[in-house]
Amino acid sequence: MEKFIINGGNKLYGSVKLQGSKNSILPILAATAVTGKVSILHNCPRLSDVEAALKILRHIGCKTQRHGHTVIVDSTGADGCEIPENLMREMRSSIIFLGALLARFGKAKLTAPGGCEIGLRPIDLHLAALRSMGACITETGGVLECDCPRGLSGRQITLNFPSVGATENIILAAIGAKGETVITNAAREPEIIDLAEYLNKCGVSVVGAGQSVIRITGRERLYNAEHRIIPDRIVASTLMAGVACAGGKICIKDAVREHLAPVISVFETAGCEISFANGEMSVESRGRPRRVKFLRTMPYPGFPTDSQALFMAVAARADGTSVVSEKIFENRFRHVPELVKMGADIRVEDCCVAVVEGVECLHGARVSACDLRGGSALAVAAMGAKGQTILENIYHIDRGCESFETVFRGLGADIIRTRRSGV
Ligand code: UD1
Repeated sequence: MEKFIINGGNKLYGSVKLQGSKNSILPILAATAVTGKVSILHNCPRLSDVEAALKILRHIGCKTQRHGHTVIVDSTGADGCEIPENLMREMRSSIIFLGALLARFGKAKLTAPGGCEIGLRPIDLHLAALRSMGACITETGGVLECDCPRGLSGRQITLNFPSVGATENIILAAIGAKGETVITNAAREPEIIDLAEYLNKCGVSVVGAGQSVIRITGRERLYNAEHRIIPDRIVASTLMAGVACAGGKICIKDAVREHLAPVISVFETAGCEISFANGEMSVESRGRPRRVKFLRTMPYPGFPTDSQALFMAVAARADGTSVVSEKIFENRFRHVPELVKMGADIRVEDCCVAVVEGVECLHGARVSACDLRGGSALAVAAMGAKGQTILENIYHIDRGCESFETVFRGLGADIIRTRRSGV
């Protein structure tokens, strides 16, 4: 098992280009299967989750090629509508292929996603919406079998929570539906807009993405498309947290101010100086972070749940008490006991509130990544800590951050990846 060895204390300086967004590329890869055409996607990050999605595409008969950060998917000959359990389990968000397969083939067979590190991931909203569009779905022993005896029909669907995955699944299914589908209380994340922009290039009509009401009208005839994946706002917040923990000044090329607005205001409150010029975001941190009295994770445009652990690594060293409320996922404080091993003073109340008493400094420790963002949070905390940290289970980080250690080493961090046992 690979680990990171991180010697804390180096400030971060320099410039880095932001990778493409994991949460954008995954639904767009699922969407390529619907078109029956060739899609050229630029700015595709090299991540284990992306490779898992490409494996699924190949399994159902698509041809895929990668040239650097460009991925080409030819779904002309796709003919498979079943995804085996081993491929479903490789990527948590593989449920997004359900809407895509129904739109393309009118049927699908796949394994329901189980729990994951950050808690159960129910799909009741996905299934209720697809059923209302005409899908017959049976669930036996964790296997979902779906078909649409009378085809899919456009419907008015109101989500009782703006679920990102459910919004994406409905958009994908709607491509194959007769008539217009209207989603009310849709997720408004930038990744939904990116999916809509790609689909509009393919000839689908998706109107309103980024707002609460999205209207989708499928088309019989779809087209080849070329698209550039948006930059990853969560990796941007990982870099920001790195500077806030370790100190220094970095420039993040391609960071999109609008996507990062809720994160920027919190990091500014924590004492970072942030500015934009020439397509770059500059982030500077001098001295100890300031506390942020209260932070609550919310659907976009609120503070992202994916950046919560990263913020907590910063708050752990702040000059006072910060309170963090996590209401999106029920098990998203698994980094807390690990930060405590590094000297943090954090107590969790009622599962979803963490009271973080900032301490003067953290120290190195042997810790373990429990999930993608929690693992990244431990790594950036270690960069600002005294002494050496050994971070295990870093495969979680590889799911979402491309060449994590190379990026941070380029900014001056003392971090290496090792397979050696006994360290
Ligand atoms: C996506 C992101 C993930 C991010 C999350 C919230 C991807 C690949 N992943 O995950 O990084 O943290 O959005 O911004 O884009 N829920 C239900 N029933 C459902 C669907 C969701 O109860 O049918 C609940 C979930 O359990 C969770 C909450 O709604 O508590 C948010 O889930 P959702 O927005 O669907 O997140 P994902 O699409 O899984």
